[in-house]
Amino acid sequence: MSKPIYVLSGPNLNLLGAREPEIYGHQTLEDVQRLCEARASALGREIVFRQSNHEGELIDWIQEAREKAAAIVINPAGYGHTSVAILDALKMVGIPVIECHLSNPAAREAFRHQTYVSLAATGVVSGFGAASYELAVEAAAGLTRPAAK
Ligand code: DQA
Repeated sequence: MSKPIYVLSGPNLNLLGAREPEIYGHQTLEDVQRLCEARASALGREIVFRQSNHEGELIDWIQEAREKAAAIVINPAGYGHTSVAILDALKMVGIPVIECHLSNPAAREAFRHQTYVSLAATGVVSGFGAASYELAVEAAAGLTRPAAK
């Protein structure tokens, strides 16, 4: 089995389902995890799915992913717009990084139009609700498909 895809979520995403459902939808983060697991499994892959409200913990996991993951899917949430430290960590990983957002930040307030994470991302998936995560997992799997024997 190839290395897993790390699926990391940033602050306030633990409250998905209750948090501004008109923007982020009614599905919980557990629902999103199940969708990602199903999509990964259909592609013969595994995921490691984690959420933290703490910048340093996210950075620890990104550093861990350098050794242990095939690719990273990350919804940095609010930290995407503020964290140079997360950008710096992502620039060190040497594996594909897929940035994902439930909403389409480009269609929202001006302060959401740019993320630091995008500077280190292989690609970005935004605006499809929970399906953004599934599409990001699919992209990560495609970019790191093990070579056929
Ligand atoms: C978000 C968009 C961010 O602007 C916001 O701060 C979030 C969630 C999204 O998934 O749409 O927390 O990353």
